[in-house]
Amino acid sequence: MDVALERIRKSYGGTAVLHEVSVTLRGGRVHGLVGENGAGKSTLARILCGAVPADSGHVAVDGARVSLRSPRDALRRGIALVTQEGAIVPALSVADNVLLGVPSGRRPRGLRDPAGDRRRLAGLARRTGFDLDPSARAGDLSSAHRQQVEILRALARGARLIALDEPTALLPRSAAADLLRLLRELAGREGIGIALISHRLDEVLETCDVVTVLRDGRHVRTAPAAGLTRDGLLRDMVGRPVEVLYPEPEPVPDGAPVMLAARGLSRGRAVRGVSLDVRAGEIVGLAGLVGSGRTETLRLIFGADRPDRGEVTIAGRPATGGGPSRAMALGAALVPESRAAQGLVLVRPTTENLALAGLPDRRRLGLVRRRAERRAVRETADALGIRGAGLDRPAWTLSGGNQQKSVFGKWLVRAPRVLLADEPTRGVDLAAKARIHRLIVGMAAQGVAVLLASSEVEEVLGLAHRVIVMRDGRPAGEFPRGAAGAEEVLAVAGLR
Ligand SMILES: Nc1ncnc2c1ncn2[C@@H]1O[C@H](COP(=O)(O)OP(=O)(O)OP(=O)(O)O)[C@@H](O)[C@H]1O
Ligand SMILES: [Mg+2]
Repeated sequence: MDVALERIRKSYGGTAVLHEVSVTLRGGRVHGLVGENGAGKSTLARILCGAVPADSGHVAVDGARVSLRSPRDALRRGIALVTQEGAIVPALSVADNVLLGVPSGRRPRGLRDPAGDRRRLAGLARRTGFDLDPSARAGDLSSAHRQQVEILRALARGARLIALDEPTALLPRSAAADLLRLLRELAGREGIGIALISHRLDEVLETCDVVTVLRDGRHVRTAPAAGLTRDGLLRDMVGRPVEVLYPEPEPVPDGAPVMLAARGLSRGRAVRGVSLDVRAGEIVGLAGLVGSGRTETLRLIFGADRPDRGEVTIAGRPATGGGPSRAMALGAALVPESRAAQGLVLVRPTTENLALAGLPDRRRLGLVRRRAERRAVRETADALGIRGAGLDRPAWTLSGGNQQKSVFGKWLVRAPRVLLADEPTRGVDLAAKARIHRLIVGMAAQGVAVLLASSEVEEVLGLAHRVIVMRDGRPAGEFPRGAAGAEEVLAVAGLR
C-alpha cells in the first residue's frame, strides 16, 4: 500500500509549521523522517493518521484521495501512528487493548470468542517476537512494553502503514536494536510501510531505505539512505555545517570545595549504598544500564524520594530528609528524566514555565525583579534555541524536543550551584544537544557542580571529568576522564 502526503500545509495561530510538504510512503519500505526540534515531523505524522486536519493538501492511498477525520478513520484505511504518549487504555488488559474493536470470529458484534482471541494474540506474538502477558493491566507496563502493545494493536487491525514517532527515544540500546530489526522485518517480510521519526541519525541511516529531511516545515530532500551520511543529514536539517564534537570541560581548579556529597545512600533494592562527591566546577557522570539506579540516586540526592539510609550534603550543609525545597534552597536543581510528567505545567505559557523554578514567590516580585526575570527567561530561551509558536503560548504547543529544552531551561534561569541532570538531551535534536552540552560544560566552568546521568555512554564519557558506573544500585567502577571507552564502561555496567 502506498500513502502519499500531497502538498500538505498547516498553520497554528497564523504561524505556518508545514509548507506544502509532499512525501510518499511505500509498502515494504522503511522511510525515515528527520529534522530539528520543531521542524514539523510530529505534525506531519498526526496529519497522516487523521489526528489533526491539514489546512490544505491531501492524503492519497494507492493513488486515491482519502479524507481522514480521525485516527480511527485512518486505521480503517490501514494507517496507524505509534507515539510515546500512546493511545492505549491503561485500565484495560493487554489483550483488550490489542483486540478490542477487532472483529472476533463469527460472534455477533460485541461478543468475544476467547479461543479465537488467544489464537490471534499468539499469532501476533509470533509475528513480532513480543512476549507480553495478555492479562496484564496495560497501565502497569513499562513504556517499552506499552509501545509493544501499540504496535500489536496496529497489527491486529491490519495496519499496512505504521508511523512511529521517536519510538527508540525511551528504549535502552538492546531493546532499540530489537525494535528496529522488527520494523525491517515487517517491511521486508510483510510488505508493511514504515515511517520512522528519530533524532538518532545513525539508526535512521542503518534502518531506513529512504530518508526525508524537513527543515522549518519545508521539505528539503528525500533520498535513498545508501547515499547519505550523518553529517550530510545534519547539514540538511540545520541548513549549515554543524559541530557535534563534545566540548572539552575546563580542568577542576585545585582546592575546589566539595559542593555535593552523598554517603551510604540507600533505598529499597534500587539504590544500595551510594557514596560520592562532586566538587565545584566538576562534572561527574553516572553511567549504567536501565534499572541500575542512576535516576533513583539523583532523586534521593534531590530529596524527591526519602532514603532508607544515608546522608546528603549540599554546599556543606545537611540536606537529608528536607525534601526538594531544602535541596533547592541550598542551590540544587534536578532536571528530571520524565519531562512531561515532572517538568512542565503544559497549560501555562512557556515563559511562565521557564520562570517558575527560578523564583518561588513570584507574586511578591517588584517591577525590577519582573523585568530581570523576563530578561533571564529570554536569554535562556535563546541559549537553548527554544522555538515554537511563541513563548507566550501554552507549553503544550511546543514540539516534544522544545518542551525538553524548556525543562532544562527553567533550571538554568535559577542559576543552580549543584546541577543534577537526568538524561538532559533525550529527544532533542543533535544541534540542540550540542548546545546543551556546551551549556553544561559552561556551567561547570563557572563553578557549578554537575552530576550527569545518561544512558548514552558517549555523552557521559564526552562531558565528564570522572565517570561512575552504576550496577544493581551500587557504584561498580569509576574512571577518570580519558581512562576508559564505551566498551569498558558497558562491561562494568554489566552488558555482556
Ligand atoms: N497545537 C499546536 N499549537 C500551536 N503550535 C503547535 C501546535 N502543535 C505544534 N505546534 C508547533 O508546530 C511546530 C512543529 O511541531 P512538531 O511537533 O511537528 O515538531 P517536531 O519536528 O516533531 O519536533 P520534535 O523533534 O521536537 O518532536 C513547532 O513550532 C510547534 O511549536
Ligand atoms: Mg515531535
